[in-house]
Amino acid sequence: MGRLSGKVAVITGAARGQGEAEARRFVAEGARVVLTDVLDAEGEKVAADLGPDAVFVRHDVSRERDWVDVMEAAAGFGPLDVLVNNASIPFFKPIVDTTLEEYRHVIDVNQVGAFLGIKAAIAPMVESGGGSIINVSSIDGLGSVDSRACVSTSYRSLPYRSLARSICSSSSSRVMISMSQPQSLLARRTFCPRRPMASDN
Ligand SMILES: NC(=O)c1ccc[n+]([C@@H]2O[C@H](COP(=O)([O-])OP(=O)(O)OC[C@H]3O[C@@H](n4cnc5c(N)ncnc54)[C@H](O)[C@@H]3O)[C@@H](O)[C@H]2O)c1
Repeated sequence: MGRLSGKVAVITGAARGQGEAEARRFVAEGARVVLTDVLDAEGEKVAADLGPDAVFVRHDVSRERDWVDVMEAAAGFGPLDVLVNNASIPFFKPIVDTTLEEYRHVIDVNQVGAFLGIKAAIAPMVESGGGSIINVSSIDGLGSVDSRACVSTSYRSLPYRSLARSICSSSSSRVMISMSQPQSLLARRTFCPRRPMASDN
C-alpha cells in the first residue's frame, strides 16, 4: 500500500517540470490527483499517461472562477486531502526594465494564485476533518539579485506565514500549511500547526 493510498490531491502547474514529477509520485504512492495547468496538451498527455487515478483540468491559478472547476473535479475523486500550490512563472529582468503589467502578472500568478488556492481548499478540508496545503516557493523568496527582484518579491510575500497562522487561530481544523523552498537549506517549513500531525507521518 502506498503512502498516499486513498488520498485526493490537487497539484497546480502539473503539466511539466516539478509539478508533473509530483503528480507521478503521488499516483505511484496511491493518490488520485487533479493536475492543473494552462498548458492543455501537455497536461492532458501527463494525465492520460497516469491513467484513471489522474485527471487534467485547464486552470489559470490567478482566476478565482477556475478554482471552482478544480474543486469540483477533486470532489469527483472524494474529499480533498492535499493541495500543492506549485504553479509559477519565472521572470528575470532588472526592476528598471520591468513594466507594471509584467510585475502585476508575476504577482497574480505566483502570489495571488497561492492565496486563491488556500482559500478554495480550506472549506472542503475543514469539512472533511483536515488536510495538507503545500506552497512551493523558491530560494529566491529569501532574497535575490536585481534581475530576480520581481519574482523574489512574489515568493517572499506569498501569503504563507500570516495567512496560515490566521487560519490556525480562527479554526480548530486540522489543516497543515507548509512551504517548500527548492534549492534552499530551509527545504520545508510548517507554519500551521507548528508541528506536523501524527496522521501525516
Ligand atoms: N526547478 C527548480 O530548480 C526550482 C527551484 C526553485 C523553485 N522552484 C519552484 O518549483 C515550482 C515548479 O517549478 P518548475 O521548475 O517545475 O517550473 P516549470 O515552469 O517547469 O513549471 C511551472 C508550471 O506552472 C504552469 N503555470 C504557469 N502559469 C500558470 C497559471 N497562471 N496557472 C496554472 N499553471 C501555470 C506552467 O505552465 C508550468 O507547467 C515553481 O513554483 C518554482 O518556483 C523550482
